[in-house]
Amino acid sequence: MDWKKRILRTLLLAAVGVCAGLGIGLMQAKKETATAPTPGIANIAGVGGPYTLTDQRGKLRTEADFKGQYKLIYFGFTYCPAICPTELQKMVLALSKSGPVGEKVTPIFITVDPDRDTQAIMKNYVELYSPRLIGLRGTDAQTTQVKKSFKVYAAKVPVEAGKDPEDYLVDHTSYIYFMGPDDTLIRLFRTEDTAAQIADAIKQAVPSAP
Ligand code: NI
Repeated sequence: MDWKKRILRTLLLAAVGVCAGLGIGLMQAKKETATAPTPGIANIAGVGGPYTLTDQRGKLRTEADFKGQYKLIYFGFTYCPAICPTELQKMVLALSKSGPVGEKVTPIFITVDPDRDTQAIMKNYVELYSPRLIGLRGTDAQTTQVKKSFKVYAAKVPVEAGKDPEDYLVDHTSYIYFMGPDDTLIRLFRTEDTAAQIADAIKQAVPSAP
């Protein structure tokens, strides 16, 4: 009888394994395509707020450093396999497509994975995209605060169950925040929005006169 129990248990474990594998597969498929609900108009007014973070050169930065400037802000992580690179490229392309007014917009990348995204990693990463791109990271508490202000969702997801806990991805919302000089949100762009659409919004919002 014992062997029957063993086989049954093996089969059960296998079934559980498949389900867990499937679940993780689904989670990975959902990763980053699963965006949180777009904040409604009422919520948009409240997006943003004070923060203290450190840039890729080790300089302490707060929202006050960027007062008076238009900004494109993106939250992500440097190990992101696809979405973050696409969105950051799009952000930089949108600025170049905006012509002279694009130079009045500061692109900012804020990491949701400060555990792995060290200052050195952030520096190398942002330089891949543009010398103008500012990379910001914070302590866990600072990161939690800025995520809350911008209504960002981010959660670590293991690449493979039971494997190295350092080997994880971060499921996160993917929005490009177009912020005005007074730190109010002008527009929120999603992954399906193009660089041309962002450039159009920039040209519409940013005055060309100095
Ligand atoms: Ni990403």
